[in-house]
Amino acid sequence: MREIVERVKEKTSIPVYDRTIENVLSAVLASSDVWRIVDLSEEPLPLVVAVITALHELGYIAFEENGVRLTAKGKELVEKYGIGSRKDYTCSHCEGKTVELDAFSDLLEQFKEIVKDRPQPLHDFDQAYVTPETTVARIALMHTRGDLENKEVFVLGDDDLTSVALMLSGLPKRIAVLDIDERLVKFIEKVADEIGFSNIEMFTFDLREPLPDYALHKFDTFITDPPETVDAIRAFVGRGIATLKGPGCAGYFGITRRESSLDKWRDIQRVLLNEFNVVITDIIRNFNEYVNWGYEEETRAWKLLPIKVKPSYNWYKSYMFRIQTLEGSKGYEEKIENWDIYNDEEASTT
Ligand SMILES: [Fe+2]
Repeated sequence: MREIVERVKEKTSIPVYDRTIENVLSAVLASSDVWRIVDLSEEPLPLVVAVITALHELGYIAFEENGVRLTAKGKELVEKYGIGSRKDYTCSHCEGKTVELDAFSDLLEQFKEIVKDRPQPLHDFDQAYVTPETTVARIALMHTRGDLENKEVFVLGDDDLTSVALMLSGLPKRIAVLDIDERLVKFIEKVADEIGFSNIEMFTFDLREPLPDYALHKFDTFITDPPETVDAIRAFVGRGIATLKGPGCAGYFGITRRESSLDKWRDIQRVLLNEFNVVITDIIRNFNEYVNWGYEEETRAWKLLPIKVKPSYNWYKSYMFRIQTLEGSKGYEEKIENWDIYNDEEASTT
């Protein structure tokens, strides 16, 4: 195992453990599809690539046209370490989301109809939207936690069109949305007009800038989907917290394992606890499921993967975090300069 770990370390600066190798081997036993291996191993894609490349060099796995498989030497290795095939017993009723959509089936149908002509994701803004079921599950989740009814809700970045589902739910007292993409702002404005929802405010805004006064300390709940770097998470989630009125408010955001190691997760959790002084109340595994965004071939993931096959299912998921503010919680109101908000060593979808 040590030889494999050392070989992986030559290829990447992402932390690698024996457990990393075990996770990838376990996933290879379950599937030959590289996307599924990333999904099942729950290691960042560039790290999975480094591991399978090392395993290939050492003769443990073979690359075939459509995927990877263990060689005879690889089979001996997993036997020696007692590594079994990774199983997936995610609840098939809720798909692991922990909420059911039955009470929101009308809302889901309306939502699907409205978003048919949504603006398509732009690579420039790192956009990728979640499935309609995910968006509606967010409404179910937030309502279950008491964060929607007669509340003032802020949506920071909305390529998922969560604000549309919020309007259709009729639950929030007021909604504010900001996004850097004018097309989305116009689309949401048009929908608000059509369904006659007037308590919504829209802003075209770059989150690298500090929020204006009218957005600060005025809301009960925020939701955002930050790019997966610690700096971007500090900016998006910190600005979200800055929009909240004070203690007892809530925030929601997705963090993935596809682009973040657990070492990065620890850094993220430190920001939440130590810098923002908030508490994490929920982390729901793979709650957010993203529709494959159509520009896969332009991404780093595509360049890295040794086998160029398009994903056959929605492999990209993120965990849903819910945080709550307490006495002493504070957000992030500073300007952000001179950093690349979207990229670090573990990123692969930009
Ligand atoms: Fe379930």
